[in-house]
Amino acid sequence: MAVAPTSTALNEPADSVLCAKNLTVGFGEATILNDITVNIGRGHATALIGPTGSGKSTFLRALNRMNDRVSGYRRNGEVTLEGESIFTSGMDLLDLRRKVGMLFQRPNPFPMSIRDNVVAGVKAHRMAKRHQFNDIAEARLTQVGLFDAVKDRLNKSPFQLSGGQQQLLCLARALAVEPDVLLLDEPTSSLDPVTTERVESLIANLVPSISVVIVTHNLGQAQRVSDQTMMFFDGELAEFNTTKELFTNPQHPLSSQYVRGHIG
Ligand SMILES: Nc1ncnc2c1ncn2[C@@H]1O[C@H](COP(=O)(O)OP(=O)(O)O)[C@@H](O)[C@H]1O
Ligand SMILES: [Mg+2]
Repeated sequence: MAVAPTSTALNEPADSVLCAKNLTVGFGEATILNDITVNIGRGHATALIGPTGSGKSTFLRALNRMNDRVSGYRRNGEVTLEGESIFTSGMDLLDLRRKVGMLFQRPNPFPMSIRDNVVAGVKAHRMAKRHQFNDIAEARLTQVGLFDAVKDRLNKSPFQLSGGQQQLLCLARALAVEPDVLLLDEPTSSLDPVTTERVESLIANLVPSISVVIVTHNLGQAQRVSDQTMMFFDGELAEFNTTKELFTNPQHPLSSQYVRGHIG
């Protein structure tokens, strides 16, 4: 079935934090994303749904140039952050990834203490003075609901923590550098229900000051946390709509089948 986009114009560029324009991405011969044009609304939580292999992670990684060093990576088209191309020669990739932070499916704490994990980015970007690091670590761990569980072992390794706690730690680390956008790639797919609920309520509290894009296979989660949804199919944007519309009155037959559980 042809995947002609049915609605991609939910947000005006001026109301958008990230815009992809005719974005095509491939690895070697294979084209993975085909001509994606979408304006991601500033201050919104945007869900990205679609079958496995439809290009969701590749798209997310294109938004902060995480694919750049993948062998065979090629790109056409544009991505802008607050109206500015992320591909200009002057673009500082560290700075881009501070502004556009990311959380992966598997928690990836650094091999350093719990406290140092939280402030790693703060240090790298010289965002605070050394004497402030303890307070920043405490505030961010409190924000994600992890402080009480780790307050007696801040100098210890994060690798003794449960998977859910490690993910919350990575979220605290991502928030500590005060990003404009958080890209979440199936952030709760390996978490227990309680931690999942905590992450969902955190997301609700981040918007609108932080714009969130969340890839999820959990359609209930997409409806709970997002107000706009992109539906990918086979590397194309099949539909971009309000979450409510996409789930109750989908405009594209593929979205309709997907949200009813008939594909993917
Ligand atoms: N580094 C890579 N080299 C070649 N193909 C890749 C690479 N990364 C992803 N792909 C392919 O791109 C397609 C989309 O992958 P991905 O973006 O991970 O999909 P999703 O996140 O929707 O499951 C898949 O067919 C995958 O095999
Ligand atoms: Mg993926």
